[in-house]
Amino acid sequence: MASGASDDPLDDHAQTDGRPDDPAGGPPPDTEGAQRPAMEPGDFKTLEQFIIERQKHFPHSTGAFSRLLRDVSVAAKIVNRDMRTAGLIDIYGSTGEVNVQGEVQQKMDALAHREFVLALRRGGECCLIGSEEHAEAIPLATTGEDSDGQYIVLLDPLDGSSNIDVNVSVGTIFSIYRLPEDWTGKPTMEAALQPGTEQVAAGYVVYGSSTMLVYTTGTGGVNGFTLDPSIGEFLLSHPDISTPVEGKMYSINQAYYESWEEGLKDYVRWMQQPDAESRHPYKTRYIGSFVSDFHRNLLKGGIYMYPATKNSPSGKLRLMYEANPMAFLVEQAGGAASDGDGRILERDPQKLHERTPLFIGSREMVETAGAFLRGERELEAAGTGGETVS
Ligand code: AHG
Ligand code: MN
Ligand code: MN
Repeated sequence: MASGASDDPLDDHAQTDGRPDDPAGGPPPDTEGAQRPAMEPGDFKTLEQFIIERQKHFPHSTGAFSRLLRDVSVAAKIVNRDMRTAGLIDIYGSTGEVNVQGEVQQKMDALAHREFVLALRRGGECCLIGSEEHAEAIPLATTGEDSDGQYIVLLDPLDGSSNIDVNVSVGTIFSIYRLPEDWTGKPTMEAALQPGTEQVAAGYVVYGSSTMLVYTTGTGGVNGFTLDPSIGEFLLSHPDISTPVEGKMYSINQAYYESWEEGLKDYVRWMQQPDAESRHPYKTRYIGSFVSDFHRNLLKGGIYMYPATKNSPSGKLRLMYEANPMAFLVEQAGGAASDGDGRILERDPQKLHERTPLFIGSREMVETAGAFLRGERELEAAGTGGETVS
């Protein structure tokens, strides 16, 4: 059969082969970074195999860190299982409680928090947990004694939880620090108040059309694993992820436009200017679930922004378990993260639940956003002419 022609009504390609990208004459679909070869049967590597392979590169490793990552992945599988049956059992809706953030706690928030705490306690490698769903840091004891675990885990157990009831992708975010070497006595939250640059690993799980765990240890790149539900294993599906340097998507809650600072208004309006040559305008994509917006932008290129607003003068997202881990990961993938003033990872944290404005994603987009915010760039026509838009 000639290429591009198919008589098979079930063959999707029959609909698209041999015709222009967009019959309406718009820009080609943005598929950059999204295409991955299918896995051959039997040709897979589990998360556990991957971690053990990596561990061999560190001859003095005790395996404690590998076990900690395994504990995180086990908790993620349990949360995934519960999520997949959420419509069938009574775990939709709110608990009737308000969490430490003053936000309505969903049943799944509480459940995910519990599963992560239990898994980390069972595993014994973690000595302290900080969670969005708990006001204070949680010291862990393993066998009735203090834990001798050397790691601190900070968590957003369930991100985007207001989306659960309507079947939209949500996630988990985790940040891992080592207990400072000179720390004596029971670990307290102060032990975890380290700048993001000190993270030893960070990652997220996205419970979407498939469930993926993506993490980095700050060396060896960013790697993504997709859960194969038939064998209950995360399999390496996205090795060595790098994010496009420039993207065409921006994610922001535009309803707060009136309360943005002028530089941000200009940046967003600049992205909206039409210019066929530079493929302006950009596209807006905002799910309202940070992990999901971040994951899409990481793979395809884009920027996620949650600025300071009148209602949230310090921004909404939390530095220690939302911004820092994603900043650590995005930098490893070649992207950038800023609070509008400087690098997220260099912020000096003051408390577990502190908030920060966040601009994160493709490096050039984050830099351009910064230039507008600092007033170094002004709104001009999107093309190269530099004409000021009145
Ligand atoms: P969480 O569910 O962990 O509280 O996080 C919600 C966050 C984030 O996921 C999302 O991007 C943002 O809140 C949405 O906020 P707005 O509704 O103000 O846009
Ligand atoms: Mn969140
Ligand atoms: Mn949350």
